[in-house]
Amino acid sequence: MNPLNHVAIIMDGNGRWGMRNKNSRKAGHKAGLKTVEKIIKHSIKNKIKFLTLYAFSTENWKRPDSEIKYLFNLLEVFLREKIQKLHSNGIKIKIVGNKNLNKKLRTLLTYAEKKTSKNEKIQINLALNYGSKKEILDTVKKLIKNKKKITEENFTNNLYTKNIPNPDILIRTGNTKRLSNFLMWQLAYSELFFEKKLWPDFNEIDYDKIIKKYSQIKRNFGKI
Ligand code: FPP
Repeated sequence: MNPLNHVAIIMDGNGRWGMRNKNSRKAGHKAGLKTVEKIIKHSIKNKIKFLTLYAFSTENWKRPDSEIKYLFNLLEVFLREKIQKLHSNGIKIKIVGNKNLNKKLRTLLTYAEKKTSKNEKIQINLALNYGSKKEILDTVKKLIKNKKKITEENFTNNLYTKNIPNPDILIRTGNTKRLSNFLMWQLAYSELFFEKKLWPDFNEIDYDKIIKKYSQIKRNFGKI
C-alpha cells in the first residue's frame, strides 16, 4: 500500500455553489470554509502529515474587490477564532506564498505560524497569494543572488515549500481539470484526482474514496 503523507487540494467551486444555493458567491466561500474544517479533521484521522490548501492564488487578485475583501476577512476571522483550537489539536500552520499582504493580516499569519511551529500532528500549508510561476522565478533569483549552483537539490531546497515533501495526491474539486498555477514543480510525480463535486459539497466519504483509489495505484516514479 502506498504511504500517504501529503495531500494537496485545489478547493474549486465555491462561487458556483454559492450562486446555485444562495445566489451569492460569498456564501459559497463561507460554506467552503466548513468543508476545510471537515477535511482537516479527516486528514488527522487518516494520519496524513501534510495538507496543502490553495486558499488564494496570485491570479485571484483579478476578482472584484468585494470578493477579495470577503475572502481575506473569512481567513482572518477563522484564524482569530480557531487558532487556540488548532494549536491544542497539534496543528502546525505554515503559509506558502507571498506574505506581502496588509500589515494586520501579515502579523496574524506570522503569529499563527510562530504559535503552532512546534506542533507535529499535521502541518497545514495555506497557499495564500501563491503562484507557482512566481515561486519558480523567486527561487531562481534567490539561487543566483546567493551564488548557488542551479541543481535540482538546491532548487527544491529554496522553494517556498522547502522542508515539505512533495504531495502524494492532488485533489481538485469543481469539475475542472487544470493545475491553475499550483505547485507545478512539486506535483511532477503526484497522483491527480479530479472530483466533479463543488468544494462545499465535498465530504469525508468522497475523500476516503480517493484515498482508497490512491492506495491501489502502482507508483513507478519512472521505473517499471
Ligand atoms: C475557488 O472557488 C476557491 C477560492 C478561490 C477560495 C478558497 C477559499 C475557501 C475554501 C474558504 C476560505 C479558506 C480558508 C483556508 C480560510 P471559486 O470561487 O473559483 O469557485 P468557482 O469556480 O465556482 O467560481
